[in-house]
Amino acid sequence: MFELDLRERPFTDRLSRLLVMRAENGSLWIARAEYETPLSQTTLFTGLRVYRGGEELPIRRARPGGIEFDGGVRLAFANPDTLVLAGQDARAVWDGGGAAIDGHFVLTGHLNDGDVLGGDWQKWFDLLPPTRADLRERAAMAWWTLGINQLTIQNRVGVVPSKYGYVALWNWDSYFHAIALRHVDPALAREQIRILLDSQRPDGMIPDVVHDHGALYETTDLPQSDHARLAQHVGTANGARPEHVAVPVTKPPLTAWAVWKIHTVAPDLEFLREVYPKLVAAQHWWFAASDPDGDGLAEYLHPYSSGLDDSPIWDYGPRAEPPDLNSYLVHQFDVLADIADALGLDGHEHREAAERLTALMIARRWNGNRFVTLAGGSEVPVKTPLRLMPLFTGRLPADIARALVDDLLSASFWGDRPVPTVAFDDAAFDPERMWRGPVWLNINYLLIDGLRRSGFAAEADELRQRTLAMVRDGGGIYEYWNPLTGQRAGRATSGFGWSAALFLDLARGHPDAGCSGSARLTVHGDAPRSRGSADAG
Ligand code: GLC
Repeated sequence: MFELDLRERPFTDRLSRLLVMRAENGSLWIARAEYETPLSQTTLFTGLRVYRGGEELPIRRARPGGIEFDGGVRLAFANPDTLVLAGQDARAVWDGGGAAIDGHFVLTGHLNDGDVLGGDWQKWFDLLPPTRADLRERAAMAWWTLGINQLTIQNRVGVVPSKYGYVALWNWDSYFHAIALRHVDPALAREQIRILLDSQRPDGMIPDVVHDHGALYETTDLPQSDHARLAQHVGTANGARPEHVAVPVTKPPLTAWAVWKIHTVAPDLEFLREVYPKLVAAQHWWFAASDPDGDGLAEYLHPYSSGLDDSPIWDYGPRAEPPDLNSYLVHQFDVLADIADALGLDGHEHREAAERLTALMIARRWNGNRFVTLAGGSEVPVKTPLRLMPLFTGRLPADIARALVDDLLSASFWGDRPVPTVAFDDAAFDPERMWRGPVWLNINYLLIDGLRRSGFAAEADELRQRTLAMVRDGGGIYEYWNPLTGQRAGRATSGFGWSAALFLDLARGHPDAGCSGSARLTVHGDAPRSRGSADAG
């Protein structure tokens, strides 16, 4: 089993809110993970060290099952609330306290009958999907990440993006998590979708976040810590305080896409029947409530809804229409039609709507060279890979699809580590700042998915291989990577759920693409599909 770097990320356990971290001075501190609460407010212990006979016992190594000190002392979880120090003839000391360690010393919580010190990580690792030899170590780390990121939220098991900063279920993160879980625990994958849909608003909107105390539906629900950014995003129109201006907050419409991905691996018609009306309502919400100019093309009304909240697109206005949104909606119509077909219902309206929306996007947003991104009605002069996302529809005419693939393979977006979230040759490109240049695995995954659906299997596989290599060589499971160095970027968190999930799913390969890394780029893609939605992963 691999070792953990406690300076990079905390030691924690599946379903536990306790985080054990190493301070600059080498001592340990322990805090609880709570929704949008700084760890300084939830700290339980600081300055924890272990001694024997007046000498400090240094930490020898940390592994998923526990932190080992010299002299046979170990700090491990017995259950999610209980951290135990086990050893003989030693003493634990922390700021304001201390205790002898002779046998088991319970630092937090209660030992129950049957608790096993160090948990049963072996069992979890036994479920790790098989992967290529060179990816195995990183895959184990990713798999462990998906294990420790599980928490009980509103009495249900949810995977959180990171216990270090994102302690709740985030909307689109959950879709990406489900994509990996479907291979091993489809029930848990479906549960991620259900938790979100159980908090769906009567008007169909799926909230941005489901947390311990409720859900985040509108800007008025945002935590205090977001208020400064909120003022930037929604302004102080009519003198109202930004936290009093109710703008809906959601995430990109990829719910049906994820549902269908689960279904292709673990078919379950009952689940489809259960979620279908909710997915239809969610889809209609975008056109009824998120298309302020009524032109039939939906817009994001808040940066958070786009999922790319710090993208320079948002430097141009509080609402925007990058080309990804309507592309996802086209595909969601197609998947709704597929689900209807699977349930023996009539899905032709969804199919026709997909066709119409594609035609509208091309008529209104394709300028002959590219799909434009609008903010407040004007074109935004920043190049982001969202302009490639119409490939996600799998419905583009061959010449347009080819032009987008050429754009992807140009120096703007291609390199050893594609795809930067702002083009390499754009003035706004910054390799370190969130959504302003770094590589995010979900964008790569969505593009890979779209390339496959559009008939560009070799290009999809090349992007897949480069993405896997970047994560393999980059040192950890980060939130985002610097595309120039391949290392963790700026303030990216580590142990990030969707990076773990999508890496694992990509590492499994794809029946169309093989796993060998031998695919070559072709000059001509196959003809794109004109209808329907193939599974791509
Ligand atoms: C950040 C990302 C957003 C994501 C959230 C939780 O806000 O920009 O896309 O959903 O973190 O991971």
